[in-house]
Amino acid sequence: MCELKKGARNTVISDGNPAARVMIIGEAPGREEDMAGKPFIGPAGQLLDKMLASIGLTEETAYLTNVVNWRLTKNRNPSPEDIELCRPFLNRHIELAAPEVILLVGGVSMSALTGLTGIMKQRGQWQTVTIAGTEIPALPIYHPAFLLRQPVLKKDA
Ligand code: URA
Repeated sequence: MCELKKGARNTVISDGNPAARVMIIGEAPGREEDMAGKPFIGPAGQLLDKMLASIGLTEETAYLTNVVNWRLTKNRNPSPEDIELCRPFLNRHIELAAPEVILLVGGVSMSALTGLTGIMKQRGQWQTVTIAGTEIPALPIYHPAFLLRQPVLKKDA
């Protein structure tokens, strides 16, 4: 069995509207997401919903997924191997959804899709993600789980 799937109850693929113009890509499911089989429904997801609502985005106008589709044991960060294992699915997922804009939620998502590191410096700076020959504008933002731990940074987000 795939090492990744061992700690997970469900495979967590997506939520929201696959035809939306904005695709939101997080890191990996947490406990609540693993139980429900849907991304971004726990505390971080609730904060993300508020952030999206503040710019007029809802479940109808956004499509949510993660770089890794399974909860990681002990909530560890995804390893480069975990990310590479999921990458073909992620790339094809982006290709099929064909968003106009991608939100890279947190440093793991940013580095998986752009190769950049340092979310503190890169957040808010537009990048380009190329999927199957199509260039898609992509904006790295702070991860809401990070903002829950560092509420003083919420105003920047
Ligand atoms: N954090 C993420 O990056 N994704 C989720 O789905 C939940 C929490």
